[in-house]
Amino acid sequence: MQAAGINRSSIQFKGKRVPVYTGSFWTSKQREGHNLHEIAYRACFKPSLPKYFIEKYTNEGDVVYDPFSGRGTTVIEAALRGRRIIANDVNPISAILSGGRLCIPELQALDRRLSHILSGTPVKERHTLSMFYHKHTLNEILLLREWLKKRKLSGTEDALDRWIRMVATNRLTGHSPGFFSVYTLPPNQAVSRERQLLINKKRNQKPEYRDVHALIMKKSRNLIKDLDISTKKYLSQAATSALLINSDAAATRQIKNNSVTLVVTSPPFLDVVQYAKDNWLRCWFNDIDVNEIAKRITMSKTVDAWMQKMQQVFFELYRITAKGGHVAFETGEIHYGKTRLETIVLEMGLHAGFEVDRLMINEQQFTKTANIWGIRNNTHGTNSNRIVLFRKK
Ligand SMILES: C[S@@+](CC[C@H](N)C(=O)[O-])C[C@H]1O[C@@H](n2cnc3c(N)ncnc32)[C@H](O)[C@@H]1O
Repeated sequence: MQAAGINRSSIQFKGKRVPVYTGSFWTSKQREGHNLHEIAYRACFKPSLPKYFIEKYTNEGDVVYDPFSGRGTTVIEAALRGRRIIANDVNPISAILSGGRLCIPELQALDRRLSHILSGTPVKERHTLSMFYHKHTLNEILLLREWLKKRKLSGTEDALDRWIRMVATNRLTGHSPGFFSVYTLPPNQAVSRERQLLINKKRNQKPEYRDVHALIMKKSRNLIKDLDISTKKYLSQAATSALLINSDAAATRQIKNNSVTLVVTSPPFLDVVQYAKDNWLRCWFNDIDVNEIAKRITMSKTVDAWMQKMQQVFFELYRITAKGGHVAFETGEIHYGKTRLETIVLEMGLHAGFEVDRLMINEQQFTKTANIWGIRNNTHGTNSNRIVLFRKK
């Protein structure tokens, strides 16, 4: 035993001893951390995971990067702690979700902007989304969509618009009256129109009116409720130098050599999560072609194909990581725990030039069953995250 509750052992890998630490390094509670993180995204990790590495391996002003940023858990946590940030994801929804949260709005100004947008001339309905929305709600969503599109095209989109875009994207569909839609799957997983019709039939439900203005205000108040003056300042500082990229993680030329102090990331595992399909309504709202994203997202059918792709990513991470910097790379358990990816990840990291610092297995009693998208996350009553920590010499 090392520290209380932490077990230390080791494995042999290619003639080298790799330390393995097992214990509760960070909490698995659903709602731990700043409320600003409360944005749903498929397969996102808890903020306590990046927080652990950011606190331990970086100082204020250092650069923290996530090549598979998703909703931006790593970079939002880093920005809240005064770090500079770089986020990348092939899905443009990712930059909308993280960039929008770097400039915290004044609630009165937000209220006025929403009143202005929603008092516009009703947009003619061209979309068959009546299975999700009441016609007046849909009209409000369309007003927002048109406004945001025009502002973006004319180059006049400002921080308030970006905030509204981020919150509205998050409120489009969900399973409570806090969302714009009738009851459907959780917000990170929009179902098809046909499937929604079946859900409505089964539940004998019709979309009721949802007040878009009130719901955006409510969610905004919630997101910012635990931010103090200093964290707001950190966020706006991070906004001035933030780099939000929409590239393949293996080709991020915008990032300078040796410039990143810490990477904390969780890659797409094989083809288990349908990141493009699940985001189709969010893409529609943001005028993004979902089929284009589907082509770019890594959906490896086999472990070999996944390895080939991730090896390229590791070469890129080696290029951009500063000397003495770290990469914390989550390795999943796939095929219901039968395939563990850490030995593959170890091999790829070493091949790229990194040295292995340790393998960390964060185990905790699970509070909620999490056995989804083929990754078993609750074996023997525990949640576990497996992270390989690399260091660049
Ligand atoms: C497991 S999720 C990351 C979730 C993130 N840790 C969070 O907390 O939100 C993996 C992400 O990788 C993105 N992705 C898939 N293929 C990619 C690629 N080749 N390059 C960059 N991003 C990619 C997906 O769009 C998805 O957002």
